[in-house]
Amino acid sequence: MKQNLILVFFLCISLITYAQEFTPNYNEAKIPDFTLAALLESTQGKKITSTDDWESIRRPEILEIFKGEVYGNIPDAKVKTSYKSLESSTEAIDGKAIRKQVRITFKRKGKSAFMDLLIYLPKQAGKPVPIFVGPNFYGNHAIENDPEILLSNSWMRNNEGMGITDHKATEKSRGYNSHRWPVSYIIENGFGVATYYYGDIDPDFDDGFKNGIHALFNNKKNNDVPKADAWGSIAAWAWGLSRAMDYFETDSAIDEARVAVLGHSRLGKAALCAAAYDERFALVISNESGCGGAALSKRAYGETVGRINRVFPHWFCDNYNKYNENEAALPIDQHGLLALVAPRPLYVASAEEDQWADPKGEFLSLKTASIVYELYGLENLIAAKMPPVDQPLIQGHTGYHIRTGKHNVLKYDWEQFVKFAEMHLE
Ligand code: GCU
Repeated sequence: MKQNLILVFFLCISLITYAQEFTPNYNEAKIPDFTLAALLESTQGKKITSTDDWESIRRPEILEIFKGEVYGNIPDAKVKTSYKSLESSTEAIDGKAIRKQVRITFKRKGKSAFMDLLIYLPKQAGKPVPIFVGPNFYGNHAIENDPEILLSNSWMRNNEGMGITDHKATEKSRGYNSHRWPVSYIIENGFGVATYYYGDIDPDFDDGFKNGIHALFNNKKNNDVPKADAWGSIAAWAWGLSRAMDYFETDSAIDEARVAVLGHSRLGKAALCAAAYDERFALVISNESGCGGAALSKRAYGETVGRINRVFPHWFCDNYNKYNENEAALPIDQHGLLALVAPRPLYVASAEEDQWADPKGEFLSLKTASIVYELYGLENLIAAKMPPVDQPLIQGHTGYHIRTGKHNVLKYDWEQFVKFAEMHLE
């Protein structure tokens, strides 16, 4: 009897595992037929023919869908914010840059959290500079081999190669990701660059909203159970970007009207979410953000909504689970998110070997969103074909490239981002 029970137990476990096993589709012929929601028609069926109608009717409708069904709502409640300079120097990056490390502390109802912003600015600017801002994966100290960057003490995903065990960073990770952040190159081109460690705002694991910035907004009455449309981690990381923007508004060396927000992969999803929710960002760059970022979900190519929600249950709001293996029911696809960026310049970057993120789906999403840029009378990608690898396509306010190689951020990507930003922010 006992043996039979054990057998049944293991049978159940293997059935569950089998049911959850995921085989991505990489075959264009197997993409389901799908229809994308019209961007220029309201839910009531009104045709959107002017930028006024877009801004007052359709854009708010689409934004509400992303807040209610995808990334979740950021609470309205105010947090008390203060800034403290932790360190600064006018001799950073071989004397070419100013470095600032600013702790932004958030307080609410007796709880507090912080994020440390690392900023490099070109030295001889003489006027407020345009700046790139994006979160980073392994601590500020990992983005540049600069011994003065404070080593992060925050919870971190383990990474053997970087010497991160027990969720704590060590000196070994200093500068480890510098290939993703060509600070010197960015500075030489007249831009500042700022970053914060995403785990300061929300450690990247499913903890039921107990840590990071979520903890400040927990609703005890609700027994800490978030509502189905409450913000997940992506919206929290986006919130962090907006707090960086608040800081820029107080720093006279930075031109807050020329801030380019960017992110790679899950942080590319966060950068797009930040730009959709907060219109102060002047230019947006998505690097290989894929599913739940720039890519069209209804293609179900590579990573899918169901798979992302199962593996990363804390990233999106709970309502997003309604679309697991049910993309057809999505009231809007990710082209709507890109459209929320319009008319601000928007660049989407893919990599050929990053099929998981569906490069073609990222391109088609941008192309479809271009109709809103057209409404603004701006040159766009509507008529464009997907360009061959390593041939960036920039048409007015929209840009796209697919480069050779894997899922990563390379100097090549930054060269295009800087070129695009020069066109629009200089
Ligand atoms: C995983 C995840 C992606 C995400 C990526 C990353 O691959 O499935 O959605 O973009 O991690 O952030 O590196």
